[in-house]
Amino acid sequence: MTFDRYEALRDWAEKSVLSSGEIPEISIALGSCSLAVGADEVFQAVDERLQREGFEARLRKTGCPGLCGDEVLVSIAKPGYPRITYRKMTPFSVQELVVDFLKGDDPRSDWALAAEEPLEGIPSWKDLPFWAKQERQVLAHCGQIDPGSLEEYIIRDGYEGLARALLLTPEEVIAEVAKSGLRGRGGAGFPTGRKWEFCRAAPGEVKYLICNADESEPGSFKDRLIMEGDPHGAIEGVAIAAYAIGAQEAYIYVRGEYPLAAERLEEAIQQAQGTGLLGEGVLGSDFSLEVKVHRGAGAYICGEETALIESLEGKRGVPRMRPPYPPSYGLWGEPTVVNNVETLAALPDIVRKGADWYRRWGTERSPGTKVYTLLGDVHRPLAFEAPLGLTLKEAIEVYGGGIENGFRLVQTGGSSGTVVPESKLEIPLDYDSMSRSGVSLGSGALLVADEGRDVAWFLASVINFFRAESCGKCTPCREGTLRAQEILERLASGRGEGALEMLAALAEALRLASFCGLGTAAALPLDSALEHFKEELGRKRRVMEHRGVKIKPGEGKDGLPSPDVASVAEIIAQHGREPEALVETLRDLDARWGYLPREALRLVAQAYQMTPSQLYGVASFYSLLSTVPRGEHLIRCCESAPCELSGNGEVLEAVKQALGIDVGQTTEDGEFTLEGVSCLGLCGVGPAMTIDDTAYGRLTPERVNDILNGYR
Ligand SMILES: Cc1cc2nc3c(=O)[nH]c(=O)nc-3n(C[C@H](O)[C@H](O)[C@H](O)COP(=O)(O)O)c2cc1C
Ligand code: SF4
Ligand code: FES
Repeated sequence: MTFDRYEALRDWAEKSVLSSGEIPEISIALGSCSLAVGADEVFQAVDERLQREGFEARLRKTGCPGLCGDEVLVSIAKPGYPRITYRKMTPFSVQELVVDFLKGDDPRSDWALAAEEPLEGIPSWKDLPFWAKQERQVLAHCGQIDPGSLEEYIIRDGYEGLARALLLTPEEVIAEVAKSGLRGRGGAGFPTGRKWEFCRAAPGEVKYLICNADESEPGSFKDRLIMEGDPHGAIEGVAIAAYAIGAQEAYIYVRGEYPLAAERLEEAIQQAQGTGLLGEGVLGSDFSLEVKVHRGAGAYICGEETALIESLEGKRGVPRMRPPYPPSYGLWGEPTVVNNVETLAALPDIVRKGADWYRRWGTERSPGTKVYTLLGDVHRPLAFEAPLGLTLKEAIEVYGGGIENGFRLVQTGGSSGTVVPESKLEIPLDYDSMSRSGVSLGSGALLVADEGRDVAWFLASVINFFRAESCGKCTPCREGTLRAQEILERLASGRGEGALEMLAALAEALRLASFCGLGTAAALPLDSALEHFKEELGRKRRVMEHRGVKIKPGEGKDGLPSPDVASVAEIIAQHGREPEALVETLRDLDARWGYLPREALRLVAQAYQMTPSQLYGVASFYSLLSTVPRGEHLIRCCESAPCELSGNGEVLEAVKQALGIDVGQTTEDGEFTLEGVSCLGLCGVGPAMTIDDTAYGRLTPERVNDILNGYR
């Protein structure tokens, strides 16, 4: 019955998807990174040109394939030619391309990146090692399908994994996933099947599945790629996991800085509900599932699973004491599984093709593939998928195309990872490499710094992130990260006599006495840098290469219209008065008035039955919310290490100079407020900033001035 329903859906999908063989098909990658470098304008330019010339062609959007350095990517499949992909398209070049290729039969090899088959000097994808050596499983659909099309997902075997899971008992699904050896891709590598067994066996009728899509690690944007490029892939994984553990409600906790991912997930959930793939009696079975998207509001710590649960319950997102662990005591005190997006996205193929198939990749104890993001001083910044056990050398040379200047270090696992010297580049990365050789895999973000980079300056930037994101609950982390940053800034300016011992002591305190993983993670870069770069850290320098600590936020513009009771009540009513709706309500109020006016907070406190100070505690916790007025336009510049390596120092300086203000201040005319943020998720196209809801990538000081003039 279940499978018949699935096959009927597949028939429908096959009939619905337009056959594109007759007319040219132009696909444009529209993801957050490409939109930040003008993909929308490229799309419009093609659309207008097609109409003006009267060309018959199908124009479609796809997600991003992960080739951040090559965006904006445009692919053309013209009858009689292999599909050709073009890189770095602009609204001008793309119009020329459309006319030359569609009208003049000139495939413009000068702009081409690759083609399905080699053609007139254009290499085939198979000839490009960074592409050919990938094993794309969770990224298989990214850049290929239209993320807004359920039909395109289904005709590529989408939801077959769910249909097959429903033919098995939940215990059988858990056993298959356990046999596959899948380990959590959120950083810790905990065996997924084992986590599910604990939750399934925990007493209680009500269970929850939470998809952790908070991804706030600077340099990590793999989950965003999946959600934006293949939202149904993530949702199918959520449904399989929920069925296995016995949950009828699932939440996807999406990072507040990922509006496009949230939008595409919501659209996909509606499509799945409308076709019986979610909701009451999934595919005619006894299993029912409601999936909700919950948007965060800017706090790295909310990626830690217990902090995430607190945040979902409408509180400050600070970690809980563990044990008890979420599989026995999670959301609302019920057994809960928290899994990362990439972990969940791996499930459809595991169920569809079996555990033995999955174990063909990776290592014995870390099977399967992993999505890595590679940034910094490499030729080709990108996200790619390869089997676990890849060496750093392969990652940098094969996928990243090598480095121009000599190698200094690579930080593995994002800011919360180890700083690795050249002597360790041959170590295979998997979930046990940390205990074996002291190199962490974490989220799979790799940040390369060449020999022109100063280690103390680099570390100061990394620790600045932890200082800014520490939730403040425990002293070793709250004070330790601040002190470590001060020391690193002293070291960077060559005034660090005796500071290395103090730095080592701080790292030890962070490692041993922090309440949660954020503090212990902050110790990793410090410990590893002290082990491998001690001499260099202690060296005297003449140039101060870091930018210093952020200044305190100042007062913003006054005189914005006061919120009236009716408008605040309307926003509260829209989200409801359940605690879990609080953060969404605050986000909408903030969006409406540009900050959270005191009168509005008073009404919200009443509605959610909180004291004003409890509410203030929540409202002041998240970086996307502000309790002081902001200017007409809010500029948020990324200050984290990956963007630092791409030159955000000069960009931030240019913004400050153009506006005559510092970070945390508002211009006198109330036009602009400037905020520094940890990471915008646009790491692939750094340096990056957002102005209101628009993202800008690959910034230069000159471009900053042009952009700001557009807002004046
Ligand atoms: C400070 C901190 C931040 C974290 N951020 C994330 C995150 O953004 N995404 C994620 O999946 N896991 C994150 N984790 C790990 C989660 O606590 C949890 O282990 C993970 O979501 C479990 O999913 P998995 O088993 O599929 O890996 C973070 C942990 C810590 C300590
Ligand atoms: S280690 Fe840091 S983030 Fe974790 S509880 Fe302590 S202060 Fe908060
Ligand atoms: S590090 Fe992510 S946007 Fe700058």
